[in-house]
Amino acid sequence: MEPIIEMVGVEKDYASGPVVVRALIDAHITVNEGEFVAIVGPSGSGKSTLMNIIGCLDRPSRGTYRLAGYDVGSRSNNARAVLRNRLIGFVFQGFNLLPRTTALENVELPLVYRGQRAKHRRAHARAVLAQVGLADRVDHTPNQLSGGQQQRVAIARALVTDPPLLLADEPTGNLDTRTSDEILALLQRLNRERSLTIVLVTHESDVALCASRVITMRDGHVRSDVRQSSPRDAGEAAARAQSEPEPTSARPGGE
Ligand SMILES: Nc1ncnc2c1ncn2[C@@H]1O[C@H](COP(=O)(O)OP(=O)(O)OP(=O)(O)O)[C@@H](O)[C@H]1O
Ligand SMILES: [Mg+2]
Repeated sequence: MEPIIEMVGVEKDYASGPVVVRALIDAHITVNEGEFVAIVGPSGSGKSTLMNIIGCLDRPSRGTYRLAGYDVGSRSNNARAVLRNRLIGFVFQGFNLLPRTTALENVELPLVYRGQRAKHRRAHARAVLAQVGLADRVDHTPNQLSGGQQQRVAIARALVTDPPLLLADEPTGNLDTRTSDEILALLQRLNRERSLTIVLVTHESDVALCASRVITMRDGHVRSDVRQSSPRDAGEAAARAQSEPEPTSARPGGE
């Protein structure tokens, strides 16, 4: 497998007034195509800083970052945007769907920007929505969908352009445990079936356990980088939860 992410001595400083914050220090990270990486660490440890650089939203202050072989640091904002559009899908904690716009139209949007013809992009968006289990919800607007369904639409939108890399910042942060496992099961399946490379930031250890590799950040440093030989199977957990009775909120003697 080819490396898709290659960082050599990458650093990021933020100037805030007279103080310089060293948000990322001497990061050496190589991620091969088809890996599923979780990034964990306390608040302020540099996770989003690292993701912003991986996602070509920001440039390193020092060091070299290559994405699919392209040297990102030496490129203009425009050239970085082109790389980003071609190579990366983004998923966020808050879903970030357009309101009053159907699931189908939300997923079509990246193809509109690419100038694809309406008939072709509609068929393509439908197919990707079917892959994430939403064939019967294409005409629903976000407020007519559950949180998990909204995140599925967001994943379909991120993948409709067929990028090799998916970046997800706390993708299950707004979801309950069962729904979170369903979304993780979908990500694990996409990782397995499409060899989609996934880099995901999370605060939850249950989420990180689903990845095949866990990078721990602390004070701007990569503290550890560990492979997990048998990741947690989120699909199994979700199926188990499905077969259990709904938790009841009724308390004996309660009002
Ligand atoms: N634009 C900025 N200007 C100045 N300092 C910044 C900026 N962005 C981040 N920082 C600082 O860089 C450090 C790393 O921030 P970062 O957002 O990467 O942390 P994080 O690990 O994502 O935290 P969280 O879990 O809370 O999201 C923090 O000390 C933060 O205050
Ligand atoms: Mg963050």
